[in-house]
Amino acid sequence: MEIIKSVANLLEIAMRERAAGKTIGMVPTMGALHEGHLSLIRRAHEENDVVFCSIFVNPVQFNNAEDLEKYPRTLEADVQLIGNFADYVFAPSVEEIFPVAPTEVYDFGSVANVMEGAARPGHFNGVGVIVRRLLEWVRPHKAYFGEKDYQQIAVIREMCLQCRILSEIVPCPIIREPNGLAMSSRNRRLSEHEFETAANIHRILEASKECKNAFEIKQFVESEIAKIPEFQLDYFELADAETLQTTDDLNNPHGVMGFITVYVGPVRLIDNVRY
Ligand code: PAJ
Repeated sequence: MEIIKSVANLLEIAMRERAAGKTIGMVPTMGALHEGHLSLIRRAHEENDVVFCSIFVNPVQFNNAEDLEKYPRTLEADVQLIGNFADYVFAPSVEEIFPVAPTEVYDFGSVANVMEGAARPGHFNGVGVIVRRLLEWVRPHKAYFGEKDYQQIAVIREMCLQCRILSEIVPCPIIREPNGLAMSSRNRRLSEHEFETAANIHRILEASKECKNAFEIKQFVESEIAKIPEFQLDYFELADAETLQTTDDLNNPHGVMGFITVYVGPVRLIDNVRY
């Protein structure tokens, strides 16, 4: 595996691999890698000749200065974990990606205005800014994203449509800790006690599948979360699995999902469930 630091080098290598007729897979990440990320990288390795993984803590998608500052940065350990599942790791500096502050303003429409888009103003614009650049530089045949960030996938699909990016967007299932907690780089900021307590998020979502209707689901999830003193609910929404708009109709033809965001102390965790 080779580490790439500059955009010029990235462009040259990606162009060379494409010219050699190789199929290219790409996995964008912000590092502090765990099994969730590695599942994407391994899948990309299985399905493509060459894999690019990017590791870049993208400042423009953070709407909270403390979250950006505290975001774990563990490049050496990440590189060890990736091993030979990726051929290239693109790990640029902030200046390399943003020689000047980006000014793009996107309108990703209704999928981007709800839930994470409403709770974190500017977040999806920042995701669009970085993912567009990465996909345009590498031009992968396939790009892999995790369903833990389900709404992010919908926003990235919309960005690709608007920007005429032809990479196939491949959604990958959520990987969980043995206790059920969705793996996340932010889990590293939890104490042992908080880590165990946080497993209740998934437990409650799974249990809510037994409820008979949308009203019951919402009441159940909200009251169960409220019983746990370490939890502060940001939102729980039932939404159409495709349009991401709120729905109360569990028979919705696109499928219905529950989307939750919970603060455990200062750490903001997200998860989702399909009904
Ligand atoms: P990051 O949070 O590092 O996640 C990188 C990729 O790994 C995303 O597609 C995310 O959905 C996926 N992922 C994270 N935890 C996962 C889990 N437990 N199971 C399965 N997949 C998981 O998402 C981002 O970075 C950034 O927004 C990025 C797309 C890189 C743009 O900066």
